[in-house]
Amino acid sequence: MMTTDRYAVFGHPIKHSKSPRIHRLFAEQTGQSLEYSAQDVPAEQFQATVTAFFAAGGKGLNCTVPLKGLAWAFADSKTERAQLSRAVNTLAVQANGSILGDNTDGIGLVTDLTANHGIALTGSRILILGAGGAGRGIIGPLLEQAPASLVIANRTADKAMDLAQAFHHKGAVSGCGFGDLPNRQFDLILNATSASLSGQLPPLPNGVLAENGVCYDLAYGNEPTAFVRWGLRQSAAKSLDGLGMLVEQAAEAFFIWRGVHPETRPVIELLNSERRA
Ligand code: ATR
Repeated sequence: MMTTDRYAVFGHPIKHSKSPRIHRLFAEQTGQSLEYSAQDVPAEQFQATVTAFFAAGGKGLNCTVPLKGLAWAFADSKTERAQLSRAVNTLAVQANGSILGDNTDGIGLVTDLTANHGIALTGSRILILGAGGAGRGIIGPLLEQAPASLVIANRTADKAMDLAQAFHHKGAVSGCGFGDLPNRQFDLILNATSASLSGQLPPLPNGVLAENGVCYDLAYGNEPTAFVRWGLRQSAAKSLDGLGMLVEQAAEAFFIWRGVHPETRPVIELLNSERRA
């Protein structure tokens, strides 16, 4: 009997997730037959729910806040980028039945910046705001683009310095507090703090964004985030939010599961047009 391959996104909360929509659009576009649902899974139910999902024949999962660390611990094996980021957003059943964990967030961000927005990362001065899980997930793939420098600034400076130390072998990365930023300039500033979610801004000095610099908030919403608005006030060449990254990380997960690269541009355009409506 033919059954449809099943995928899902787990998170808490999950109601507003765009992932089911994105994966259904990818499936339609590439002619793949699959189901993709969203399930609210609190952290304490993660282990049992994931185990049951795969035992029932599920093929792959996306895991989002606050489950990425638990997914990392759950995976039988991990890609190098997932291993380093200590977070897994994609679980996939392998041919031998074991579960592979990957993290497609960082490569999703890099693709959105370089392919969709034409922003050169090689040789650029990059600043990441925040040293939590979201920041950790993007450092490795950014360093692979060989920036001139990558600085992580965090409210708790020690956390930024520890994080920089963990990626030292991959490139020119350092950590500091926000108080160390005056008199420094960056070509690209990425907001990976959770401040946006509560409409707040990290304490950024004026002048920290170089002329023609770009701002990018990993978060997204129907309205511009506080950080996107800050970028516009600083006369950023572009001040972007993370909708493109969301679609690109999904496309990488889709490729891991199905072996097919969907076209992301029409999906990004559709989601963008809907939030402008
Ligand atoms: P996530 O997985 O989304 O990164 P997290 O691991 O809880 O979430 O990390 C949240 C990050 O946002 C941290 O870097 C936090 O700074 P601290 O490590 O000093 O707590 C940062 N953050 C949260 N609210 C902030 C605010 N209002 N201003 C500046 N940084 C903030």
